[in-house]
Amino acid sequence: MGEKERWGTRVGLILAMSGNAVGLGNFLRFPVQAAQNGGGAFMIPYFICFLLLGIPLMWVEWSIGRHGGKYGHSSTPGMMERIWDHPAAKYVGVLGLFMPMIVMIYYTYIESWSLGYAIFTATGGYWGATEFAPMQAFLHSYQGIPIDMANPEIANAGISYFSSIWPAYILFIITLACNIWILSKGVSGGIEVMAKIAMPTLFLFAIVLVIRVLTLGTPDPSIPEASIAAGMGFVWNPVPEALTDPGVWLAAAGQVFFTLSLGFGSIQCYASYLRENDDIALTGLATGSVNEFAEVVLGGTLAIPAAVAFFGIERTQELAQSSFDLAFAVMPSLFQQIPGGQFFGAMWFALLFLAGITSSLAIGQPIMAFLQEELHMSRNKAALTLGALVFVGCQPVIFYNQQGFLSEFDFWAGTFGLVVFATIEIILFAWVFGIDRGWEELTRGADMKVPRIFRTIIKYVTPTMLLVILGSWVFSILPPVLRYEGVNPDYIPYVRAARLMMIGIFIALCAAVAYAWRNRTNGPGATDA
Ligand code: TRP
Ligand code: TRP
Repeated sequence: MGEKERWGTRVGLILAMSGNAVGLGNFLRFPVQAAQNGGGAFMIPYFICFLLLGIPLMWVEWSIGRHGGKYGHSSTPGMMERIWDHPAAKYVGVLGLFMPMIVMIYYTYIESWSLGYAIFTATGGYWGATEFAPMQAFLHSYQGIPIDMANPEIANAGISYFSSIWPAYILFIITLACNIWILSKGVSGGIEVMAKIAMPTLFLFAIVLVIRVLTLGTPDPSIPEASIAAGMGFVWNPVPEALTDPGVWLAAAGQVFFTLSLGFGSIQCYASYLRENDDIALTGLATGSVNEFAEVVLGGTLAIPAAVAFFGIERTQELAQSSFDLAFAVMPSLFQQIPGGQFFGAMWFALLFLAGITSSLAIGQPIMAFLQEELHMSRNKAALTLGALVFVGCQPVIFYNQQGFLSEFDFWAGTFGLVVFATIEIILFAWVFGIDRGWEELTRGADMKVPRIFRTIIKYVTPTMLLVILGSWVFSILPPVLRYEGVNPDYIPYVRAARLMMIGIFIALCAAVAYAWRNRTNGPGATDA
């Protein structure tokens, strides 16, 4: 194997790490979570979770990553072994391959919808139907979900729907190919170059759109309660009761994890391409702050306030139950009602695509790294292998999306799994590796003075909060899910199949790790542990 890969420049690293964190979650998931969980009151638990869970875990993951990188590890099986000298450590690290694998499968698919919608918007493909029902039907027709042509609102909308899933399928292949091609160019030659182009463009687009949204005023004077002021109020006015609702706290913690890409193996992977004495404290904090700006300021001002300006609060609450409906049905209907809507609409979907691709590269890179360093593949071969795995894995997600494949993957790998991995990881770091060595690792080469209080937070506060969160998952959230409560009975076999598929992938990854380690201790290049 060649020389270890490295980031080219510090700016490139910051952009790539911000690209990792800034994703669909910032623009779609955050506003929906905030609106559903108490509006402005959500910001209090959100901010506390950011301070006590987000920042400490960010620093821990950067530290674990840079430490692993020193020994040539960019994926978590090897990294975990470096902080916990035990044969089980590498299997704990499998989580940092499993979750990226599962999430990459559905995330690239969602990303491809934004590419498709950027094209349909620029070409006016769905222009003419401004109501929500036909726009949702258009989305469903694109996703291959049957639509109700007996409903006159849909049938007589005057637009044509997709008659097959193939356009979505082809756009998915194009999106996946872009990802694989960029990954095959390497960390500094691919990911970093892409981040340097995509991130400034993304911020430019987001700022233009924020200005457009803030100048919407009261688009329809006959409904004076639908205005941009009402929209901002809806996202930001605090509902005080939310503070005593444990569900709101759980949602806030979940959003902090998701948006910062924590508990995944991805931050660790990117951090492993640093040098031993490069700063991580300030750089980590800086990218976390860039993400929060993109999320709270930009993400909080776009979709929901715009929807309220057109539909009013009550209707937005109904329509924005799902972030996919919000992005791909509500937004298209309102672009048709503003001057220059085709232009701003295309910009919105291009923004989502750029946010998505810089994140999906970050989801793919840990697996690339594993294939290269542990299974000794060349970079091109690793990229093709990853592409083939995602391509195969995505088939059921594309064809059985409606039956619950996508949301099942998202639930276990994208929501629950990261809490599990983050909890194990911080306990290993603070208690097994030890807070003394951990603190030395975090502060070595630091360009800022890390407040000492974070030593206590990392050792006691964050692990305790994580254990409480994990406990509430295991005792209150998981049991009904395991009993298939609320699942359409016709879909249970599909949900079961999705779970079996995840178990199969997990076992296969464990086997790959076992195989790699056996060869390592017998062969040349034997372990130096
Ligand atoms: N943070 C990304 C977003 O906000 C999503 C994400 C979650 C992610 N986990 C990740 C991205 C791991 C890259 C790697 O949309
Ligand atoms: N599915 C969730 C919702 O509809 C949000 C969500 C989960 C999401 N994972 C995502 C949004 C990835 C965008 C990208 O509210």
